[in-house]
Amino acid sequence: MNVALLGFGTVGSSVARILCDLKPEGIRLSHVFNRGVARKRVDWTPSDVIWTEDFEEILRSDADVIVELVGGLEPAGTWVRRTLEAGKSAVTGNKKLIAAQGIELDRLARSQGGHLLYGAAVAGGIPVIPGLRQGLAGDRITRMEGILNGTCNFVLSQMEAGAAFAHVLREAQRLGYAEADPSEDVDGYDARAKLIILSRIALRAGLEVDAVACRSITQVDAVDLGYARDLGCTIRQIAKAELRADGVSAMVGPMLVPLRSPLAWSRGTENMVLVSGEYGGDVVFSGHGAGGHPTAVAVVSDLISLAHGSRPVDLPSRAARISGEFELRHYIRFVVKDSPGIVAEIAGALASERINIDALFQRPGYEKDNLPFVVTVEPCAASALRRALDRIAHAAWLAQPPLDLPMLGE
Ligand SMILES: NC(=O)c1ccc[n+]([C@@H]2O[C@H](COP(=O)([O-])OP(=O)(O)OC[C@H]3O[C@@H](n4cnc5c(N)ncnc54)[C@H](OP(=O)(O)O)[C@@H]3O)[C@@H](O)[C@H]2O)c1
Repeated sequence: MNVALLGFGTVGSSVARILCDLKPEGIRLSHVFNRGVARKRVDWTPSDVIWTEDFEEILRSDADVIVELVGGLEPAGTWVRRTLEAGKSAVTGNKKLIAAQGIELDRLARSQGGHLLYGAAVAGGIPVIPGLRQGLAGDRITRMEGILNGTCNFVLSQMEAGAAFAHVLREAQRLGYAEADPSEDVDGYDARAKLIILSRIALRAGLEVDAVACRSITQVDAVDLGYARDLGCTIRQIAKAELRADGVSAMVGPMLVPLRSPLAWSRGTENMVLVSGEYGGDVVFSGHGAGGHPTAVAVVSDLISLAHGSRPVDLPSRAARISGEFELRHYIRFVVKDSPGIVAEIAGALASERINIDALFQRPGYEKDNLPFVVTVEPCAASALRRALDRIAHAAWLAQPPLDLPMLGE
């Protein structure tokens, strides 16, 4: 099976390295394509590999499989589409493309007799996609919770030790874990693209990307990690989706996670996905969700599967209605200018939406005009909580808007 690589960057060069080192049976690296290809050329690939910056040359060639590791929607999307239209197979790690166009590209591959594999598109080196597609195809997955963005996990797990968000983010950028513009990661859009792909495979639900609400981790303060610890929890960016009678609930954002949950164990840039099946119960996938070599392992595994003639399991999905509603406990952090009657006003606003207070916490040592304290409430719909908080949004005693975070169960 002749393999052409599109993109010789972090992942593309790692794929070439593994193919040259392991020499998997039946797979031959035939082409490497990149812009300005002369500066990319290395001396450790076989001498018969053709280096080119002409995509048409690849399409006309004897390459059986094209591996797209350029990234972004375009021109990568056109290249994958033209590969499939030509009856060749495509392998990609492009979560943006697969989240937005995966269903139609899958259909195109089937109609033209080729295959489209994208095991590297979610959680890099962790075999979540093949695990769901093959290993758990015999179950009915009803719920999924994932830590799908290594940058956010690094930032929040460093903040557990008391560091401020801005400081940890700068450190993440220095170490190359975060982009100069970190919003794709911290605002949840990267994790959302991955959740869309996983929901398609695990819940068989086709979700519109823009319909899934994202909340940023930038609102989380070191004080929240402290209060979370008092509650036996930590805070993680969680991508969560669940089957409902009338569709799917899905959202991405910072949430409190019990310390006893496996989701709290992931440190640094690790990723983790926890799925719950009706028959098989809970399954946890964890490991390195990004990086050249771990991601390349997923790409090479897809290539090996194609070389052995394995057909990807086809799990058709249906368009699903999305709601952001989950019946969960919530953590609400207020920062107030202290005065009598504040708790009564909060309790009144919550009672007006029939929301029960679970507990109230206040650590000593803060200034009276900038006093953080926390209220936790029993399970309620996020929309009811939003209405209750809107009632007190303009209270003179609020020093800053309250922060409410869902609390996951154990
Ligand atoms: N890195 C990870 O940890 C990771 C994890 C999971 C999935 N992925 C996915 O894997 C894909 C590749 O990621 P990466 O980290 O390897 O990216 P990267 O290091 O930026 O590599 C992209 C390569 O594509 C080339 N390229 C970009 N635009 C091009 C164009 N228009 N024409 C020709 N060549 C072009 C770049 O060339 P230049 O050198 O000229 O820029 C570069 O060599 C992305 O879809 C990404 O989301 C990455």
